[in-house]
Amino acid sequence: MGAATLVDPLLEDDRYRHVLAEEFTSLTPENAMKFARLHPERDQYNFSGATAIVDFALEHQMQIHGHPLVWHRNLPDWLVETDWTREELIEILRQHILTTVSHFQGQVKSWDVVNEAIEHNGRLRSSIWMDGIGEEYIEMAFRWAHEADPEAQLFYNDYSNHDLRRKSNAIYRLVGQLKRSGVPIDGVGFQMHIGLKDRLKLDDISRNMERLAELGLEVRITEMDVQVHEGAETESEQFNLQATYYSSILDTCLVARNCKGLTVWGVADHHSWVPHFFDRPDAPLLFDEEYQPKPAYYAIVQKFLEQ
Ligand code: XIL
Repeated sequence: MGAATLVDPLLEDDRYRHVLAEEFTSLTPENAMKFARLHPERDQYNFSGATAIVDFALEHQMQIHGHPLVWHRNLPDWLVETDWTREELIEILRQHILTTVSHFQGQVKSWDVVNEAIEHNGRLRSSIWMDGIGEEYIEMAFRWAHEADPEAQLFYNDYSNHDLRRKSNAIYRLVGQLKRSGVPIDGVGFQMHIGLKDRLKLDDISRNMERLAELGLEVRITEMDVQVHEGAETESEQFNLQATYYSSILDTCLVARNCKGLTVWGVADHHSWVPHFFDRPDAPLLFDEEYQPKPAYYAIVQKFLEQ
């Protein structure tokens, strides 16, 4: 069980540190390893926030899942405000990946190498990397990450890719091609930012996991949260229903032979990105604003006890 971790509460809030250390075995830096944070100027890196998370995780014998090396968001001004040639962009991405992965070599044991490269319609997303380098940027990124740390497990990560649909089919084809070409890829991350209004197709999720297993790939649920703003009336109905979403996804993961982890995208509801990003209140996580466990927490514990 992992949790996305923010630097500020990690440094400032005892209760936050306590819940992380007691309840989770893996941490993913929620923002601290994003390009603009790590690499604010062309020849300047800032590892301080990421290092605070890595040190805390190591101190508590937790794993660290690095996130993300290549993404179309959170890019620094110096990068987006210049017209680069293809060769320059390749060199920037190569240096970024080699520097970052080598810096945490032996500490960060797995990475989201490429994040959100496919659109809902199954096409490759237009981005600075796709438009400037071409689709080979994906393969290059995995090869550089592997070069910098041959022991690290390397993932392709995306959202709305957990069940069977055009997007997950395209990802299945992409990672299959990478595997067949000998590109060092170890797994696929399912973000799973979902909500009570979504009907979970658990059989399709299992089938999707299994077809990736047949390619020799691991799956991890990398960013789970369950929005409650639609789907039930009272708060207690919302939270009870939310619990069934968490526990059925955990169950699906535990049953699959290749699903090796479930990370929630935050610790307590007041840290969640959802209210900021979607501009409405919500309570998508396992702990409430007082760090009290919610029904979803107990449902997860119960599922592990049944194992
Ligand atoms: C989000 C963070 O949670 C926010 O704090 C930040 O402002 C924006 O990014 N998919 C991803 C994550 O891969 O990195 C995003 O995290 C959520 C969606």
